[in-house]
Amino acid sequence: MLEEEYERKRVLPFHLRRVPAAEPDFAYEIRPAREKDLPDIREIYNYYVTNSVVTFDEKVWSHRKWREKFAHLRKLDLPFLVAQSPTGQILGYALVAPWAGKTAYRYTVEDSIYLGQAAAGKGLGRALLEALIEACEQKGIREMVAVISDRGADASVALHRKLGFVEVGRMGRVGFKFGRWLGTIYLQKSLSTPKKKGLFRRG
Ligand SMILES: CC(C)(COP(=O)(O)OP(=O)(O)OC[C@H]1O[C@@H](n2cnc3c(N)ncnc32)[C@H](O)[C@@H]1OP(=O)(O)O)[C@@H](O)C(=O)NCCC(=O)NCCS
Repeated sequence: MLEEEYERKRVLPFHLRRVPAAEPDFAYEIRPAREKDLPDIREIYNYYVTNSVVTFDEKVWSHRKWREKFAHLRKLDLPFLVAQSPTGQILGYALVAPWAGKTAYRYTVEDSIYLGQAAAGKGLGRALLEALIEACEQKGIREMVAVISDRGADASVALHRKLGFVEVGRMGRVGFKFGRWLGTIYLQKSLSTPKKKGLFRRG
C-alpha cells in the first residue's frame, strides 16, 4: 500500500462546501405567435433541419419563408402558438397547417411542434400541444394529423400518443436525408366539437 493511502480523506466542513445552484423554475407563457417571434422560431426549426431527421426539410428556412407561412396561416385563421419564458425568450412553437389543399379537407389539419433543445423533456411539449388542440377545437377543426419520422422522433410519437393520437398508418422509405432512407408514421386525433361556433377560413 502507498503511504498516502493511509491518510484520512479530508472532508470540508459543511459551511465551506459548495452549494449547487438551485435549478431555476421552468416557467413559460403560451400565447399566439407574433411576427416579431419569427427569427426565434426560425432558429429553433433550422436547428432540427440541419441536425436531425425529425423534419424532412434539408434546406434551412429563410426569414421570408417564415413570414409567408405566418401570413398564410393568419389568413386561414389557423392557430400558431409560442411558449415564451419570463425573460421573453421563445422556447418553442406549435402550429397547424391545412392537411391537404382540396376544399373538402377543410376540417382537417396537420400539426407541427418544435422546442428549443434546452426546453425539451420538461413537459412543455405536452402543454403546447394541449393548447394547440384546444385552440383548434375553438375554431371548429375536427381532425388533427401528425406525420412523424420513423427515426429519431420517439419524443414526438410518445407525446402525440399520450394526447390521444392513434396510429393510422406508416409509409416506408419515402424520405432520404443524410444518406439514409426514412419512413413516416401517421397519427390522427378526432377533436371535440367546439363550444363556440366558428370555422377557420381558407383561400
Ligand atoms: C417532440 C417534442 C415537442 C416533445 O416535447 P417535450 O417537452 O420534450 O415532451 P414532454 O416533456 O411534454 O413529454 C410529453 C410526454 O411524452 C413522454 N416522452 C417524452 N419523450 C419521450 C421519449 N423519448 N420516450 C418515451 N416517452 C417520452 C413524456 O414522458 C411525457 O409523458 P407524460 O406527459 O405522461 O409525463 C420535443 O421533444 C421537441 O421539440 N423535439 C424535437 C423536435 C421534434 O421532434 N418535433 C416533432 C416533429 S414531428
